Amino acid sequence: MTLKEAMKQAADQTGALLDRLLTPKQGIYHAKLYEAMHYSALAGGKRIRPYLVTEFCVLNGGKAEYALWYAAAVEMLHTMSLIHDDLPAMDNDVLRRGKPTNHVVFGEATAILAGDALLCEAFSAAANNPNCSDAQNLKAVKALAFYGGTDGMMGGQQIDIQSEKAAVPREVLDDLVLKKTAALISCSCVLGCVAAGADEESVQKAVDFGRYLGVAFQIKDDILDCESDAETLGKSVGKDASSGKSTYVSLLGMEKAKALTSELTEKAKCVLDGFRNPEPAERLKELCDILLARSS
Ligand code: IPE
Ligand code: IPE
Ligand code: MG
Ligand code: MG
Ligand code: MG
Repeated sequence: MTLKEAMKQAADQTGALLDRLLTPKQGIYHAKLYEAMHYSALAGGKRIRPYLVTEFCVLNGGKAEYALWYAAAVEMLHTMSLIHDDLPAMDNDVLRRGKPTNHVVFGEATAILAGDALLCEAFSAAANNPNCSDAQNLKAVKALAFYGGTDGMMGGQQIDIQSEKAAVPREVLDDLVLKKTAALISCSCVLGCVAAGADEESVQKAVDFGRYLGVAFQIKDDILDCESDAETLGKSVGKDASSGKSTYVSLLGMEKAKALTSELTEKAKCVLDGFRNPEPAERLKELCDILLARSS
């Protein structure tokens, strides 16, 4: 299978499961909550995290299907992070995945609740993965809590907000990005390992790969915020500079930020040399290069 085919399969299957989980039952009074969750979760998006979940399962000898509910779980957690990230109290954005943001369409109160409910549904999907054992599902729930929560994505978002219009040192910026973005990328790789029943050594490699790729991914996101346009990106541009965000571009300058992205991408690819299964490893290396060169 090519990378393109594997990514399409992960995106299609995760999308179908999300559609099933987030479609309101007939006649319920709070259907609007489901509609808001469904709107953002099915609005497109690159579906990088679901692909990583399923590919790390395959990389560790499992079948992609084992990991599908974990893929949906992490995508729900990611989507909630985007809905809340776009709120007026946070980045105050009106465009996401090429569409008006959740609060623009449904109102702020429903957008907050849609994010909250997606977070709960993420844990529910991980706990109830029918293709894994209860012991595996417990590990998956713990991983989502660890990488998503206080010392993971949400902690990183807090540092991001606190670092607006502030001159933060390099260590703080490293911590910010490792938490707000790399944590969920690592989480995706770890969830694939859990679904495959991988050993501890492989889980550690998955964490390391996610850290390198995750930081590279966020720096590239910051570069695109400076160099791309809203139509290509599906979200507004120039926001980091106008909000005074602390990014590698603002701290190091564009040239060094680009060099660091390439360096981290190579490091991520090197971690994959430690796995014996060549086909998925090669696809993942190709993904690293594609994400480095991406325009959206
Ligand atoms: C956007 O993530 C937020 C960041 C962590 C940079 P993605 O670029 O993966 O967003 P979607 O899922 O494709 O919309
Ligand atoms: C947000 O980073 C990362 C999240 C945890 C949502 P950004 O604020 O740079 O993401 P975009 O550019 O709005 O997608
Ligand atoms: Mg943000
Ligand atoms: Mg933002
Ligand atoms: Mg950004």
